[in-house]
Amino acid sequence: MDEFNDQFENRKKDHLQWSLNAKTQTEQFREFDQIQLIPEALPDLDLEEVSTGCSFLGQELSMPIFISSMTAGHKDSLQINRQLALLSQRKKIMMGVGSQRRELQDPEARQEWKSIRQLAPKALLMGNLGISQAIRTPVDQIRGLVENLEAQALFIHLNSLQECLQKEGTPLFRGGWKALEKICDEVGVPVIVKEVGCGISSETSRRLMEIGVRAIDVSGAGGTHWGRVETLRYSEDDIGKEIGESFADWGLSTVESLLSAKEAGSVNVWASGGVRNGIEALKLLAMGAEFVGMARPWLLALNGSKGNSDFQLADEKIAVENLNRLAFRLQRELQIALFCTGCSKIEDVKKKKVWKWKNRWQMSLRDSRS
Ligand SMILES: Cc1cc2nc3c(=O)[nH]c(=O)nc-3n(C[C@H](O)[C@H](O)[C@H](O)COP(=O)(O)O)c2cc1C
Repeated sequence: MDEFNDQFENRKKDHLQWSLNAKTQTEQFREFDQIQLIPEALPDLDLEEVSTGCSFLGQELSMPIFISSMTAGHKDSLQINRQLALLSQRKKIMMGVGSQRRELQDPEARQEWKSIRQLAPKALLMGNLGISQAIRTPVDQIRGLVENLEAQALFIHLNSLQECLQKEGTPLFRGGWKALEKICDEVGVPVIVKEVGCGISSETSRRLMEIGVRAIDVSGAGGTHWGRVETLRYSEDDIGKEIGESFADWGLSTVESLLSAKEAGSVNVWASGGVRNGIEALKLLAMGAEFVGMARPWLLALNGSKGNSDFQLADEKIAVENLNRLAFRLQRELQIALFCTGCSKIEDVKKKKVWKWKNRWQMSLRDSRS
């Protein structure tokens, strides 16, 4: 293996391992508990009438929750992406694959994507590339990544803090707006721009919509924080650790990013970052998200190691069972939450106001008493 591939492989292995660590989770930004879905005590419905179905780019999906992009280009990643792509096809769940960066340096990596597509020809798959690579890569080559996977859409991820804190990072973002506009015009599939756990401001969301991005996934703080993942990779006495720790709480929460983007008039906003169940997903859908993504929970479902923090892919049978179980739980929670808010389908939560801030009532009661 050459030096680039060697370093790449080790970094991706580190990422998987450290992503399992609870310290990567920005719990204090989890604002889902402050949002309440308003119960409908007497829904004029039977539970089984309630549908969680939706569609994207003309393809039917079982629910508006998707598998957020995770990992690629190393030993375990082929199996991870294979298992997730099979789940995506089996359960009609949309999936973003992990970064396809390695293929830019190592043409053999394209076999990984071709084999995944052969395995799951009906899955709705989205490609993935970081902005700092996208800036430096001709659009033809980016189109090649899309074609090898036969991706229906492309995620471009923005990860400024991660690139700054990563030992091998490339915080070279000059020209990013121009490059993105060109990609949107020429790549041939819809482009969705996402963050990786630090959120996107309303002004940036608005500008992204203006240059032709199909949707924005705010991927805000509240779950896996990539500044924290990179910080954990330094040894205790390394100055990089100290610097990383100063940025441990950097970012906008998922809820704030979503609401401010909607308030600023951005239409196609997706949300991810810290979502861990179907009720939280429905809260984000009710607040205006078109789709809701989750990354870490799928990784935990695939992890077979017990008692230590190293990632180890579970045996295939167990991995399939765990993934099916997670997909079933999410869909069922979504269905029950829809029923209990008096909604028979996803569009209903967008039309009816089914959410409120939890403490608003207590605050107004306090105000009226004083
Ligand atoms: C192991 C792992 C690898 C990831 N790799 C990528 C990646 O290659 N490209 C990307 O856009 N996001 C990547 N992410 C970020 C996720 O897509 C997501 O934005 C972030 O983890 C927040 O979601 P969560 O709180 O549900 O984990 C990765 C996340 C995890 C856990």
